[in-house]
Amino acid sequence: MEKYVIHGGTTLHGEVEISGAKNAAVAIIPAALMVDGVCVIENMPQISDTEMLLTILRELGAKIRYLNRSTVEIDCTNVWMQDAPYDLMRKIRASYYLIGAMLGRFGHAKTTMPGGCNFGVRPIDQHIKGMNALGADVDVKSGFVYADARDGKLHGARIYLDKVSVGATMNIILAATLAQGRTIIENAAREPHIVDLANFLNSMGADIRGAGTDTVKVNGVERLHGGSYAIIPDQIEAGTYMVAAAATGGEVLIKNVIPRHLECISAKLRETGTIVLENGDTVLVKGASALRKINVKTLPYPGFPTDMQPPMCALLCVANGTSVITEGVYDNRYKYVNELRKMGAEIQVDGRVAVVEGGKRLSGAPVTACDLRAGAAMVIAGMCAAGTTVVEDVRFIERGYENFVGKLNALGADIHIVDEAEETDGREKILSIMG
Ligand code: EPZ
Repeated sequence: MEKYVIHGGTTLHGEVEISGAKNAAVAIIPAALMVDGVCVIENMPQISDTEMLLTILRELGAKIRYLNRSTVEIDCTNVWMQDAPYDLMRKIRASYYLIGAMLGRFGHAKTTMPGGCNFGVRPIDQHIKGMNALGADVDVKSGFVYADARDGKLHGARIYLDKVSVGATMNIILAATLAQGRTIIENAAREPHIVDLANFLNSMGADIRGAGTDTVKVNGVERLHGGSYAIIPDQIEAGTYMVAAAATGGEVLIKNVIPRHLECISAKLRETGTIVLENGDTVLVKGASALRKINVKTLPYPGFPTDMQPPMCALLCVANGTSVITEGVYDNRYKYVNELRKMGAEIQVDGRVAVVEGGKRLSGAPVTACDLRAGAAMVIAGMCAAGTTVVEDVRFIERGYENFVGKLNALGADIHIVDEAEETDGREKILSIMG
């Protein structure tokens, strides 16, 4: 098991290139399963979630090869429904997209209940509601999800989502793409990665309109042909580096971004006194000498992204004054707060509200990455803290951030990756570093 050893007190300076969007890629790879031909997908992020999904597709008969570090060719001409590596499916939340993709391609699906980051209850009732409306029977038993199109094909339907759900919106788009007739999804989520999925499918011959609004219309087509597509830059990865630059008081040029996707993050950072300058496909972030407190509420896009809540909380621990965070999407996304408290943070949590007493100098400590974005928050806190922080369970971080340590060290951070074996031999080494 790997750990990050972070020597704090560094400020970040320089340039960083943002990779392809994780939450677009984990839907576009299952979407490739529906293409009767060869897809060439550029800007594919090198993260464990995409690796796992590519492995699952390979087990279903897809031919997959990398043309270069971030371009992958996927040929699903000869895929067939068979048992897939369920142990991999259980590890990631995005495995639910295989339901929509398999139903679309084969008329039936067998997946596991999704895994992924554990913060609060994360049901899939809206996914099931959508599949039922399109004419599929869905049965959940013994940890598996079985779906079957009642007469072998799905049929268009009008679906109103009871909850704004990114996953359900994307999953229904997948299943509706090859259905007979028209599907209308109302109260749809509007995230940039939903638009990216629709653009990918349309470039392969689908007929999807309105993605990015709260009403998406899908006219089913007979088949999808091959083609090429480039995934959009990752909004949350970019936001993470923006917050890290601001929290450490540095100056970082963040390249390969779509500023429009970052508007809410930029606006909240400016409220802290941080300078954020947009220019084409870059954003320059200059940390303020003293960060101001702010109040922030997370909401579905275009609101402040829930995935930016933990990194922003780490920043607010070192801002002056008392900040209030309200989590508007999940029931309980504050497990990581206990880890920040180990570093001296003063945070009171009551349900969906966290009150952060800033102005503290954090102190390095052994902490754990509770989930993907919580892990990023611990690294940001470790870079700001005095002394050394050891972050465990970094596998969560590597699910969603390509080359996280490499990119941060290139900006001036001081982070070492230590594996269990090395650390067991030199346990006293870690303890001595901790002082
Ligand atoms: C996606 O999760 C992302 N994951 C999450 O990112 C992100 O936090 C979330 O969207 C919100 O933006 C992927 O795209 C793989 P939702 P998803 O369905 O689809 C409730 C990260 O760090 N809900 O929009 O699971 C749900 O419990 C990860 O990259 C239902 O009640 O999120 C939540 O409260 C973490 N029933 C709310 O809706 C359902 O059927 C929003 O969930 C589905 C969701």
